[in-house]
Amino acid sequence: MSETARLIIGENAYEFPLVKGTENEVAIDVKQLRGATNGVITIDPGFKNTGSCESAITFLDGEKGILRYRGYSIEELAEEASFLEVAYLLIFGDLPTRDQLSKFLADIRDNSIVDEEVKKILDSFPKSAHPMGVLSSLTAALTAFNPESVNVDSEADMYNAIVRIMGKLPVLVAWAMRKKQGLPLIYASERLDYVDNIIRMMFLKPHKEFFINPIIKNALNKLLILHADHEQNCSASTVRIVGSSHAGLFVSIAAGISALWGPLHGGANQAVLEMLEAIKADGGDTKKYMAKAKDKNDPFRLMGFGHRVYKNFDPRARIIKKAADEVLNDLGVEDPILEIAKGLEKEALEDPYFVDRKLYPNVDFYSGIIYRALGIPVEMFTVMFALGRLPGWIAQWREMRLRKEPIGRPRQLYTGENHRSFVNIDER
Ligand code: CMC
Repeated sequence: MSETARLIIGENAYEFPLVKGTENEVAIDVKQLRGATNGVITIDPGFKNTGSCESAITFLDGEKGILRYRGYSIEELAEEASFLEVAYLLIFGDLPTRDQLSKFLADIRDNSIVDEEVKKILDSFPKSAHPMGVLSSLTAALTAFNPESVNVDSEADMYNAIVRIMGKLPVLVAWAMRKKQGLPLIYASERLDYVDNIIRMMFLKPHKEFFINPIIKNALNKLLILHADHEQNCSASTVRIVGSSHAGLFVSIAAGISALWGPLHGGANQAVLEMLEAIKADGGDTKKYMAKAKDKNDPFRLMGFGHRVYKNFDPRARIIKKAADEVLNDLGVEDPILEIAKGLEKEALEDPYFVDRKLYPNVDFYSGIIYRALGIPVEMFTVMFALGRLPGWIAQWREMRLRKEPIGRPRQLYTGENHRSFVNIDER
């Protein structure tokens, strides 16, 4: 294959270098395009064909259904690793040694105190506030309580910022849930590991003896790992672009949380469960909803189906479907919406509309069923996604800063009015 791409505009031909990734993916390097062509740009709404950066964190092949963090397959990590090991791997590039992992955990626990004043901010939200809005606001507010800016040229500074947000975000997540339930706000315990602490902070009831159910721990650990990174998705790109203005880590993460909230991104897990409940309440007629999803005059979409990058099974969905069966079985939960979900999946996989468009279940299709079986309220589902995605956002932000990427600032093709003269208000 030629090592350049040739572009012909009118009489002129231009050559642009091809660059190859380590998995042989090919990109046309158009950095010099505008200068060489006297102002021509590319246009690609939704960035369907545009690589925004080079990245060594996550590899995914949407055609083959492959997902790897730092070279390790998602299947192996979900089966073998702890969430904190995966967080370390994503952020720092390699699996931690035993010493590195215990230091990471100890440093995170040491930094898990959230200033008591933050409780006043939390108090001022109505109980009805969506916890994603609360989490995004409180994460941004952390900046005010930790005003020191991070010197990204100092590994120590960078590390301190990372352990601080890794320590504090689970506390904010738990507080957002406990506030809704009218429960006292608590902190992490120095005796527990990362995932145990999340469970304790979310579920501890003041009047009850607390113990960690290994089924719940195992399921949560797996879900957090499966959500931990997904290369340049909407929220990761948001984190990178906000951070590219040299805004700090906490506010960049807060922006990522807001991006994740939308129903086309992380908010889909809540939307899936609400959709399955609506189908159940409507008599369980999956065919009716399949027809609605295919009707171009109906805004309804089959939530939890389709993906910008996967044109095959989302490998995370396969793992989560199996886990949903196991968790419900182990916990002795019978949930009729699992059967509705399986029915919808079966119909979609045989329906030409979905087959032709290569629409498969994504990560959000079955995750809500597990969250619900674990006792997590539906409004918290996207918050759980954010908790899992935190190491990915940190890794993306760190990589962007270490690579000294320029500020993110796309171009546009202007399609508005040409120059016109101002018209006085009385003459309009
Ligand atoms: N139900 C019905 N039709 C669909 C669906 C769906 N869920 N998803 C895509 N289509 C159709 C779409 O109407 C279009 O049809 P046509 O070619 O006739 O116009 C075609 O499939 C291509 O869809 P698109 O919207 O151009 O694809 P996209 O890459 O811009 O969007 C998506 C990807 C994930 C936003 C979309 O598939 C969708 O809205 N899915 C439902 C929401 C969802 O589950 N989101 C979670 C995504 S995975 C986790 C995450 O990112 O956080």
